[in-house]
Amino acid sequence: MTSGLPRFFGVSAFAIGLLLALPSTAAPIQNASYNEAAKTFRLDGGNVSYIFGVNERGELQAIYWGGRLQPGDAVGAVKSVAGRTSFESSRSETPQEFAGWGQGLQWEPALKVTFADGNRDLVLHYVSHKLTASGVDVVLRDISLDVRVTLHYNIDAETGIVARSADVVNGTNAKLLVEQEAAATWSLPHETDYVLHYLTGRWSAEWQMQTRPVTVGATVLESRVGSTSHAENPWFSIGRNAQVNETSGDVWFGELGWSGSWRITVEQDTLQQVRITGGYNPFDFGYTLAPGETLSSPIFYAGHTDAGYGEASRLLHRFQLAHILPGTPHPQVRPVLYNSWEATEFNVTEEGQTALAEKAASIGAERFVMDDGWFGQRVNDHAGLGDWYVNKQKFPNGLRPLIDKVHGLGMDFGLWVEPEMVNPNSDLYRAHPDWILHFNDRPRTEGRNQLVLNLAVPEVRAYVFHFLDELLTDNEIAFLKWDYNRPWTEPGWTQVDADQQKKVYVAAVDNFYSILKELRAKHPKVEIESCSSGGGRVDLGVLRYTEEVWPSDNTDAFDRLAIQDGFSNAYTPGVMMAWVTDVRNNADSRNVSLPYRFLVAMQGGLGIGNNLNKWSPEDFATAKGMIAAYKGIRETVQHGSLYRLISAQNNSPYSATESVSNDRKQAVLFAYLHSSQDGYPYPRLFLQGLDPKAVYSVRSIYGKMSPDTLTTASGDYWMHHGVDVGMRGDFQAAGFVFERTKEQ
Ligand code: GLA
Repeated sequence: MTSGLPRFFGVSAFAIGLLLALPSTAAPIQNASYNEAAKTFRLDGGNVSYIFGVNERGELQAIYWGGRLQPGDAVGAVKSVAGRTSFESSRSETPQEFAGWGQGLQWEPALKVTFADGNRDLVLHYVSHKLTASGVDVVLRDISLDVRVTLHYNIDAETGIVARSADVVNGTNAKLLVEQEAAATWSLPHETDYVLHYLTGRWSAEWQMQTRPVTVGATVLESRVGSTSHAENPWFSIGRNAQVNETSGDVWFGELGWSGSWRITVEQDTLQQVRITGGYNPFDFGYTLAPGETLSSPIFYAGHTDAGYGEASRLLHRFQLAHILPGTPHPQVRPVLYNSWEATEFNVTEEGQTALAEKAASIGAERFVMDDGWFGQRVNDHAGLGDWYVNKQKFPNGLRPLIDKVHGLGMDFGLWVEPEMVNPNSDLYRAHPDWILHFNDRPRTEGRNQLVLNLAVPEVRAYVFHFLDELLTDNEIAFLKWDYNRPWTEPGWTQVDADQQKKVYVAAVDNFYSILKELRAKHPKVEIESCSSGGGRVDLGVLRYTEEVWPSDNTDAFDRLAIQDGFSNAYTPGVMMAWVTDVRNNADSRNVSLPYRFLVAMQGGLGIGNNLNKWSPEDFATAKGMIAAYKGIRETVQHGSLYRLISAQNNSPYSATESVSNDRKQAVLFAYLHSSQDGYPYPRLFLQGLDPKAVYSVRSIYGKMSPDTLTTASGDYWMHHGVDVGMRGDFQAAGFVFERTKEQ
């Protein structure tokens, strides 16, 4: 990647942030400063201060990251950590902001290189810096060789989230090999009780929360498969100790913006210092830098709060909505969509889709999406990928009649594509068998009967861009569901010299981003969903170009509660698509009521995936009512503040969420019951985040509160007295809306 990644916010967003942070008469707050005498840098934003400095050896050393300090708190010069023995040297133990692997560094380096002469010693010292509108750029250089690293720091004035990345430049006159490049190392205060949380999964079971103590040694979170992966997501949060919960306690959290192979290492060294280092996955990595060439890292975003895991995720949600997603700082709400994938699978025809579109429009859907099966010789998953022409048997007159019909019904039209893949049974593969990732004369492993195109190859990038551009130019398409249904195997790039081949890990992902960027620029109204057999490609890199993601192919409403709960720790419900689908569901063959399924899907961007041809008049009436209710609350659900009142993780029999609109005029409460036991009542729910003095009236979307609950009361009442929803039985759900009526 030779051109730096776009920085996470522009001057205008920064100016907005400053305004929010400003008392009305004060001079602008400088949120990045340098203390010349002490050689320290300080970034302030939201409730966070982040401080680092240049130590007596010239290394960039971490000093402080946590709750915001007072402006007058003078942090003095930083001194390296004393080495205790020859095994615990000062150079190794000193917490550095971005350490090269050299001089015996024993812990995870941020940068590791091999020079042309075999030297592998890299020691980075401070050279210069430049304060920027929202942070600072610091230049480091090796002590003798001209390898320069520019570290970019940007702090968000509202959330205090710091964005860090690194550009490594080869200033020598010989090639050098970058074997490992992180975006950042983050150091935590010296504590021994930290608890790490991270999200793991697999196909159809993503977003499961894992928890483990941070002890001496390393926990490695990673993807080696060329894309973000279902198995682990590039997000972490670390609580100060086991007492930290949803509503209180110190939490440090972060996530990477990278949709390729990545790694985050959470490490406690032998002196019990904890560091988190993340960026490109060094596994099978090797990026040869010619003289003058630069390798930019992904961006690593991280924050702190003293108000628990709930606030940590709300800060991330706010940050994503304000600075990451297309349309920031005011992304569009997700329209209600219909998609027939679960109902018809590959069996899409003009007639069948038209019939479904009519029914979808009648219940209030705003977007009709045609999924897989419309192109090439695609009758199942054995053929067609790569051949992006309309299938004439299924659509004799092209897509136009269906699209016109959909528009006539008052909906916009979306289409499924899987641009980076090819079936061996396709014209594209027959013409260009060398366009895929492969090693010469080695087997080509198929997954779902398909192979991965190598987007790093310029002709492949051009082909993919061209067919998408043509599709969007020739048809009035408002939305692409962009799928990606297998990981990499045999990641060879045979068109280039052997010493360049491993660049594929960066070049293919950069081209994926550049296609998205160019398409969006040319077709600015088109929205995109990132799907990868469910949630295999969700990260802050792809979310710069995609309005929404598909968290999981598992649409079983009960399973989905834990999936959505896990997802919400890392990503805003504003991007989380959630469908109502038919029972008995593929995942567990469970039967739950239609209202229950709606109330689960209403936690995110609502979609309908049922076979509407099989619905009864009662089903249509239920759906119509639910969709109308959803439209009245979706801004709050998608863009408001989310409180996980009872988490759905760990097979909890109960779960509940509350969303509060940004103006605190509306709150939405969803409660779910797996099954009552031993006659116990449903736990009382205590709302959060309301205006304490304001008066709110409550109305039901579905379900009843217990009869003695007030219908109009203060924010204080709802937050302190709480709400009894009075649910009993199996797979019950309820939804309530609190609207502010007047000030008291
Ligand atoms: C993936 C997606 C599904 C669907 C199919 C189509 O599995 O996650 O939603 O689009 O592909 O083949």
